[in-house]
Amino acid sequence: MAQDLLWLNGDIMPLEEGRVNVQDRGLLFSDGIYEVINFYNGKPFTLREHLERWEKSASGILLDSPGTIEERMQVLMDLAGKSGYRNASVYGQLTRGTAPRNHLFPSNDTPPTEFWFARPTPEFTSGVKEKGVSLATHPDERWEHCEFKTISLLPNCLAKERAKRQGAFEALQYLKNDIVTECSASNAWCVRDGVVFTHPATHRILNGITRMAIIDVAYALGIEVREEAVSLREFLASDEVFISSTTMEVMPVTAIDNKPVGSGRVGSVTTKLMKGLRERIVADCEAAAV
Ligand code: PDD
Repeated sequence: MAQDLLWLNGDIMPLEEGRVNVQDRGLLFSDGIYEVINFYNGKPFTLREHLERWEKSASGILLDSPGTIEERMQVLMDLAGKSGYRNASVYGQLTRGTAPRNHLFPSNDTPPTEFWFARPTPEFTSGVKEKGVSLATHPDERWEHCEFKTISLLPNCLAKERAKRQGAFEALQYLKNDIVTECSASNAWCVRDGVVFTHPATHRILNGITRMAIIDVAYALGIEVREEAVSLREFLASDEVFISSTTMEVMPVTAIDNKPVGSGRVGSVTTKLMKGLRERIVADCEAAAV
């Protein structure tokens, strides 16, 4: 029988049995990094890319990630397999370990806390992708190192909660100079005259693994992508908008701040990229469920 399963510092157990010390620096200081990886039909999509980003995020916060990518791949394959879920969402977190509270880092021999858990991939209610979702604009209140996938997500949580309270699905964040960066837990894209725009992969956004896959898919389909900053005004006047993440893949956006985007219906470029990414996932994970 399939079950939510946890790998915690080398031990496998049912997820609800996992315990960490209250002095863990992840709890006290949000001092850690994370990843979210999807398994389709038992096979991981872009696993190496996610684990490379894990290492980049760790070194970005001066944290040593123990072991190698190959060893971690083995842990995840084993965990997802043992969970029994064909379509698993695997979450992993690495913190600077447990030590008496002090802003300064603990001694080098303090073992990090690493865990991974496998749960079923969340499913979207049917029709969402055909209809598209809505966004609410929100100032980007995050720090200057959004390129690292750290667990310090309070500004992201606040933005998403505020969007939800306005009846929207996600928050579209913009900087003081009006440039759109990304959403609270996904990358943002707009389409203008058939050309797809997304914020360049600077310190202002998380360079989504899905984002990179979509750029690849677009290239293969002959769709032009420009990694260029776009102002909120231009974004709102776009023909099409969509967002992307591991969990959502390509998610069409048909309204922003209660106003329709373009025709107010899912656009043709978005549809091509949505299908193209799906095909890429099916090809990479062989007979993945479509
Ligand atoms: N979110 N930008 C932000 C701020 C994110 O949190 C995410 C992912 C992305 C998309 O990254 P990727 O395509 O690699 O999933 C962009 C994950 C899924 C989460 O926090 O649950």
